[in-house]
This record gives sequence, structure tokens and C-alpha cells, in this order.
Amino acid sequence: MPREFTTIGVVGLGTMGAGIAEVMARNGIKVIGVEVDDAGLARGRGHLRSSVARAVKRGKLTDAEAQELQDRVAFSTSLDDLAAAELVVEAVPEDLELKRSVFQRLDAICPPETVLATNTSALSVTEISVATARPSRVVGVHFFNPATVMKLAEVVRTVVTDPEVVEDVEALVRRLGKDDVTCGDRAGFIANALLFGYLNHAVAMYEQKYATREDIDTAMRLGCGLPMGPLALLDLIGIDTAYEILDTMYKQGRDRLHAPAPILKQMATAGLLGRKTGRGFYTYE
Ligand code: CAA
Repeated sequence: MPREFTTIGVVGLGTMGAGIAEVMARNGIKVIGVEVDDAGLARGRGHLRSSVARAVKRGKLTDAEAQELQDRVAFSTSLDDLAAAELVVEAVPEDLELKRSVFQRLDAICPPETVLATNTSALSVTEISVATARPSRVVGVHFFNPATVMKLAEVVRTVVTDPEVVEDVEALVRRLGKDDVTCGDRAGFIANALLFGYLNHAVAMYEQKYATREDIDTAMRLGCGLPMGPLALLDLIGIDTAYEILDTMYKQGRDRLHAPAPILKQMATAGLLGRKTGRGFYTYE
């Protein structure tokens, strides 16, 4: 029987972390959400509150269910509070050294049987795992944006991950009402490895003024039946995150398909990060 996690820590309550915390709490799991400071915590709390309020408004949750869901989430600015978690999901920005230092600290705080998982999109789970003294209990669990909506999580095993830990995390994904797929530790795993070359190509088309942003997006939506065009999707993912993912994939594979289109770096530097800052390829209210 797979282990049933009842208390889960989430480190980093940005777009992905807040969504992951909500998904866990929606499925009856107690969550301890940790951010670096009060401002980060307020942002995370705000994400959760507005998402739950939207669900109530759309008749997906009753007021009582919304309250119970929120009561299941505790917030903290101290990683020490994660000593009570059976599994911790790390969702801090895509920076290897940052993630390694979080894992090193978690390793010192959490009991040896606690599973440490990273939501990295493209960094090496193996390199993150060896920052701890328990690499066999480290896995990748990669959610998709918006985490509350998308029906998949990729489970990433390294060459040293204990197969039982992989099975426990696969079972957790299913308990969250999502499908799981499992793969080895290569930049981009399955979905991003296939998706990001396409997204990058769309940016290059736009940058070369080959077609307008609207026409590129409409072509893929209506011509290929995708829910969103590539430029709108990049705005949803976040231009900074997309740049980091492409850059990591390019450095690992030296494949021109993933050499980030120059405009992505310029947009990231200028703060045009997509939906989260109100402007990316498109402008948002
Ligand atoms: N955040 C949270 N929930 C959202 C949301 C958002 N940004 N956008 C929409 N939703 C929710 C809505 O509240 C609604 O929920 P309910 O059904 O519970 O009421 C549901 O999603 C459907 O929304 P809409 O009817 O308004 O909109 P839609 O049908 O156009 O769907 C979408 C919106 C789900 C985002 C859809 O366009 C879609 O699937 N887009 C593609 C998303 C995608 O490819 N994501 C993967 C990105 S890659 C990635 O994440 C990996 C990585 O490492 C970067």
C-alpha cells in the first residue's frame, strides 16, 4: 500500500506554489505553506483567497467548504515549521543554487523519512538531491500552470530515488485527481521537452515580424485545436520562467531549438513577465 501523506509542506507560494497548496488542501490534506518574508506570505495568502472566492462564486465550493479548505492551510516564514511535514514540495524560483540551499536546510529540519520533492521545470533533480543526505528520498513532482486546473503531474525519478518513494508520490498525484506520468531526470522531463521548442519557435516568428501575435496564436488555436496560442501561453507561464527553462534546456542539450529567442531575455529584464505583471506579449487588466 502506498504511503498516504496527511501533512504536506509547500516552500514558495508564488504562482505554482500557491496553486499546489490549494490543490492539496482541496483534497483534504493539511498544508504548511512557507515563504521567505511577510510580503511573500501575504501574496500567497491572497492567491489562495481569491482563487477560493472564485470557486465559491462559480458554485464549485460552498462557503463552508471554502472555509474548511482555508483552515487546512497554515502559513509561516520559517522552514523550521516543516518538521511536521511528511512530504515537502519545493516551488521556489528556477535557480539551482537557491533550490540546493533550500534542500540542504530541509534535510536538517525534516525527519529522515520525510520525502523532499521539487517542482522544478527543467533543473536537474539529481543535482538538487545531492545537496541532502537522503538523495533516495528526493523526487521531482512537476505540476502545470494553472495547477488547480491542469490534470497532470510528472513524477521524476533519479538514478538513486527509492522506487517506493516514486510509487508514493504517484499515488499522491492520483489522490489529487490528476494523472501521473513518470520519467527520468532530463531537462524538461516529458512535456516541457516537447513544448518549449515550439514556444521558442513561435517567439522567433513574432520577433522576425513574420506574423502578428494574434495571427500566430489564432493559427495554433483554431488550426491545431490547442486551448491557447503559444504567445498567450508564454504570458501564462511567465516570461522569466520560460526564459530560465529554455536556457537550462539549451545548456544541457546545446540544441538550437532551445536557444532562447533574444526578445525573451529583453522582456524578462524589462519586467514584461506576462500575466503576473500585467504585461507580456499582451496587456492584462
Ligand atoms: N488560474 C487558476 N484557474 C484558472 C486560470 C488561472 N490562470 N484560468 C482559468 N482558470 C480556471 C477557471 O477558474 C475555470 O475553473 P472552473 O472550471 O473550476 O470554474 C477553468 O480554469 C476553466 O477556465 P475558463 O473557462 O475561464 O477558461 P478556458 O476554458 O479558456 O481555460 C485554461 C483556461 C485552463 C488556462 C486553458 O486555456 C488551458 O488549458 N490553457 C493551456 C494551459 C497550459 O498549457 N498549461 C501548461 C503550461 S506549461 C507548464 O505549466 C509547465 C512549466 O513548467 C512552465
